[in-house]
Amino acid sequence: MYNSKIIGLGKYVPDNVVTNNDLSKMMDTNDAWIQERTGIKERRWVKEGSGDTTATMGVKAAKIAIERAGIDKDDIDFIVFATLSPDMYFPGPGVQVQHALGIKTVGALDVRNQCSGFVYALSVADNFIKTGMYKNILVIGSELHSHGLDKTTRGRSVSVIFGDGAGAAVLTREENNSKGILSTHLHSEGEHAEELVLIAPGLGKRWVNDILKDNDPNDESYFPYMNGQFVFKNAVVRFSEVIMEGLIKNNLQVDAIDMLIPHQANLRIAQFIQKKFKLNDDQVFNNIQKYGNTTAASIPIALTEAWEEGKIKEGDTVVLAAFGSGFTWGSVIIKW
Ligand code: COA
Repeated sequence: MYNSKIIGLGKYVPDNVVTNNDLSKMMDTNDAWIQERTGIKERRWVKEGSGDTTATMGVKAAKIAIERAGIDKDDIDFIVFATLSPDMYFPGPGVQVQHALGIKTVGALDVRNQCSGFVYALSVADNFIKTGMYKNILVIGSELHSHGLDKTTRGRSVSVIFGDGAGAAVLTREENNSKGILSTHLHSEGEHAEELVLIAPGLGKRWVNDILKDNDPNDESYFPYMNGQFVFKNAVVRFSEVIMEGLIKNNLQVDAIDMLIPHQANLRIAQFIQKKFKLNDDQVFNNIQKYGNTTAASIPIALTEAWEEGKIKEGDTVVLAAFGSGFTWGSVIIKW
């Protein structure tokens, strides 16, 4: 068995900055409410006509990650793409990346695990490498939320939270089993599937022909729904559990964590975890203040920034943890 290790990271966020004050011109909200409840000051929203999509942003992040990895695109054996906001309902964006980057006809897998998407994607890639099936895998998390949000007062409890962007990582085979990704831990609890959900264009509840026939301007099934307080309460429990699960699996104590990168769901959730584990400010990385919650892109964007800022060094124990719609949650323990 091999390990996998991350040898290249990249991110891309659209130029267009949308502040909380900008939102207050679209809906009944204000900077104080948003910052107090979520920590978010601004987010990036793709400007119409810019050409940015989930797939193209993923490609931009991937190009940087591949260059930093120092490998050729033809060395990539497999692509894993995590998103909840694909350009098309099908096919998923993995194949768009294969085409746009001119990568040979390798497999491209789409992961649909929302805020846990990047953790699930890393786990898949890690296990393909561990078994020796592939050597180099490109893993992407990318989201274009802004085109699908209800930007009226009706949707304010959801739309102020989410932002657009992409992050990518290149994983390669590591022969030293004490380095790289040590373990990944994945969970789900489908009982709560509809507590954070986008009903359409799924076909389980509404048939496309009925939607078209009704042509109802008040149909909210195309906008995300979130039971915010329920999500919050579950998130703090599951984040804590799955971080501990990863540490215990590797015989590590909490004080071994050099850098915790939580999915950027809400600053208050991250602060709760930090306090619970008694971690210092320099042991937890947050950038939700600048980008909002970018779902599957949040961990790779944060990981890339932490690495660019020199906050992750060789030999560090890095912990990634996520929770989100499904519910799904997971963690990754890395010896950098
Ligand atoms: N601006 C101003 N007021 C808003 C608002 C907004 N953007 N959104 C909601 N409100 C109002 C509500 O209408 C409600 O008003 P009322 O008391 O008159 O009915 C009030 O603020 C409180 O709403 P509530 O939903 O109870 O707020 P909250 O304290 O639970 O905060 C969230 C809402 C969404 C910020 C919070 O529940 C949360 O962060 N949940 C976790 C979400 C998350 O992490 N999601 C990602 C998971 S991956």
